[in-house]
Amino acid sequence: MEETYTRSGPVGPDGLFSVEGMTVVVTGGATGIGRMVAGGFAAGRARVVLVSRRPEAGEEAAAQLRASGCCEVVIGDLSTAEGVDRVVARVLAVAPVVDVLVHNAGATWVGPLEDHPYDAFDAVWAVNVKAVFRMTVGLLPGLRAAVAARPGEPARVITIGSIDGGPVVSPVENYAYGASKAAVHQLTRHLARRLAGERVTVNAVAPGLFATSMTAELLADPAQRERLVAGIPLGRLGRAEDVAGAALFLASRAGAYVTGVVLPIDGGESGCG
Ligand SMILES: NC(=O)c1ccc[n+]([C@@H]2O[C@H](COP(=O)([O-])OP(=O)(O)OC[C@H]3O[C@@H](n4cnc5c(N)ncnc54)[C@H](OP(=O)(O)O)[C@@H]3O)[C@@H](O)[C@H]2O)c1
Repeated sequence: MEETYTRSGPVGPDGLFSVEGMTVVVTGGATGIGRMVAGGFAAGRARVVLVSRRPEAGEEAAAQLRASGCCEVVIGDLSTAEGVDRVVARVLAVAPVVDVLVHNAGATWVGPLEDHPYDAFDAVWAVNVKAVFRMTVGLLPGLRAAVAARPGEPARVITIGSIDGGPVVSPVENYAYGASKAAVHQLTRHLARRLAGERVTVNAVAPGLFATSMTAELLADPAQRERLVAGIPLGRLGRAEDVAGAALFLASRAGAYVTGVVLPIDGGESGCG
């Protein structure tokens, strides 16, 4: 049998899990889970392009990532069609070849049932769902250029869903958010089916509970934090390496034959919780 994975070990330049030299776009890459994923790619010697609304936060994250890899920042807001189009144009200007696109930017809204504003659905869905669709379509030239540049190797789109998008039903009253993440999962499958013929894989990573600014309020009360952690079979919150590892797998040759899946990274909460 032909051996294709030992030329320089699993993570070396030609290794099974290598992302070296790839151009990876990470939306919301300046903070939280996006920063964790971007850090994994930078450590793997990929060229990372962060998207952030905030120039200072973007530059600060990029400066840290430059210690291990190459990092650039694109400033833009993904909450409107025009904003997405501006980001797409800026990304293609610095990265005409996009090997990996990580849709991590996300917004949430927590509020009791009868006060959950109608507009929460517009605000949350604009970033979590509509921007994912529009940006994927806008960046197709970059993804297609990556397929042309590396024959036999697919380009990758990775969405960041959530176990709140199913099968778990969150105890938190985040109705618009949970529904948006279910939509992200189905959109991922739909795009995967459409783009498979073009050699672009599309997969979702569905995190469980990670300590970020999105979950800061939820985790602020020590007793509540303890209760939430107790509900996670592996008994801890997610760490940077957990979500970065999943993204690196999907982006590398190791994950080249995977498309249309939702991969929970949740300490077992959705699988055996
Ligand atoms: N933390 C968890 O436990 C958890 C669990 C499941 C899923 N997730 C998902 O993980 C992703 C990252 O969230 P996080 O937990 O890391 O929280 P976070 O630190 O608040 O990150 C949210 C990111 O989204 C970006 N963003 C928000 N609105 C934006 C907009 N209009 N335009 C452009 N970027 C925008 C922010 O970027 P800037 O502020 O820099 O612009 C920020 O980096 C989200 O999709 C979230 O739903 C998180």
